[in-house]
Amino acid sequence: MKIAMVGSGYVGLVSGACFADFGHDVVCIDKDQSKIDRLHDGIMPIYEPGLDALVESNVKAGRLSFTTSLAEGIKGASAIFIAVGTPSRRGDGHADLSFVYAVAKEVGESLSNDAVIVTKSTVPVGTGDEVERIIKDSGAAHRFAVVSNPEFLREGAAIGDFKRPDRIVIGAEDDFGRDVMSEVYRPLFLNESPILFTSRRTSELIKYAANAFLATKITFINEMADLCEKVGANVQDVSRGIGMDNRIGSKFLHAGPGYGGSCFPKDTLALLKTAEDYDSPTRIVEAVVAVNDSRKRAMGRKVLEALGGADAARGKKAALLGLTFKPNTDDMRDSPAIAVAQTLTDAGVEVAAYDPEGMEQAQPLMPEVTMCDDPYAAIEGADATVIVTEWDAFRALDLERVKTLANAPVLVDLRNIYTPDDVRARGFTYESIGRV
Ligand code: UDX
Repeated sequence: MKIAMVGSGYVGLVSGACFADFGHDVVCIDKDQSKIDRLHDGIMPIYEPGLDALVESNVKAGRLSFTTSLAEGIKGASAIFIAVGTPSRRGDGHADLSFVYAVAKEVGESLSNDAVIVTKSTVPVGTGDEVERIIKDSGAAHRFAVVSNPEFLREGAAIGDFKRPDRIVIGAEDDFGRDVMSEVYRPLFLNESPILFTSRRTSELIKYAANAFLATKITFINEMADLCEKVGANVQDVSRGIGMDNRIGSKFLHAGPGYGGSCFPKDTLALLKTAEDYDSPTRIVEAVVAVNDSRKRAMGRKVLEALGGADAARGKKAALLGLTFKPNTDDMRDSPAIAVAQTLTDAGVEVAAYDPEGMEQAQPLMPEVTMCDDPYAAIEGADATVIVTEWDAFRALDLERVKTLANAPVLVDLRNIYTPDDVRARGFTYESIGRV
């Protein structure tokens, strides 16, 4: 089966390479000539573990190719995926659908065979209806169906998530859409991945509901962590204690500095806008967004406390370890590190940082921060060492070396990757999240 993937960013490229690996014939399309040139040279536009090897082997096998021409790329494709960005529209938080609609129009104008058009981009409820209208209006002369098929890929684990999904959600309004999508996902169906067929609008909402629920779970445990600090309890044990209840589940209950990334912040905001438009308030999600926003700067204030309070901190130095919103990505979007760095530099603290993949992306977002070649270079002369992102490289720091290099043995662990007693036994002042 031939598949066209319009948009060769994170979602499009991972999905395209995985579909090719299942044996489909895939063309990835992107308007950005330099991105396509680099892909031809085997250079990935993003950092995602395993993606370069997957792309290389499928290109070699002749199942994966790249082009800037949409009309060429979609020729003969039974399924045409729209996987372009839907950023938050500046000013109002609505998802910006201009890229999706522009692709829909071009697809409608260029369609040269019967095809199913699939929205993979995260789009608000009702977008599929509009895509269908645009394609119809552009004079498409072939049979087509518009289907919603949201992605649930986590950055850093996207290939595994694609190949072994908890579920595949397909929102289709007719048999043509359902039949083609069954064929697209047949290899996964054989792996016994469950496929849930719903209406198109339901499928669109499932994506937002899933992300909002996960963001709520994280925010809930973060607030419990604050309460733990006040009452002298341990949030990791609280997570275990509630997570062992199957109805709650243990995942997404790690307290930390607040969620970031390309999905949760943007999708929760877009869901609020949809709720507002339909006059059906989602107050829980409103609270989650507000609590998470204020948490990021609160984390900066936590570091200031560890430096002796805002006044004493002026002129001191902090070392930030990890800048990306989570490990195994170079993505800085809405990373808590941005607010932490800003709070510190606003208070006159000198900040040095190290991140295994994200420093190039981070530097423009935190121009006053000095980027270092390794964690120990950042720690040199620091009055507090702060773990912001839980990269594996920070899980076994040489604490004796940290003590020798730093100006003071102060460790602030915003991801709870160390054990308080161990670190304190080595002579450190140690602060973490929701543990005393
Ligand atoms: C998320 C969803 O998991 C995915 O299904 C969707 O398609 C896109 O959004 P992603 O943003 O890549 O994926 O990362 P994820 O691993 O879900 O983490 C999101 C944020 O939550 C990170 O900032 C992470 O540090 C934070 N988090 C996650 C916690 O603070 N605690 C947790 O227990 C889990």
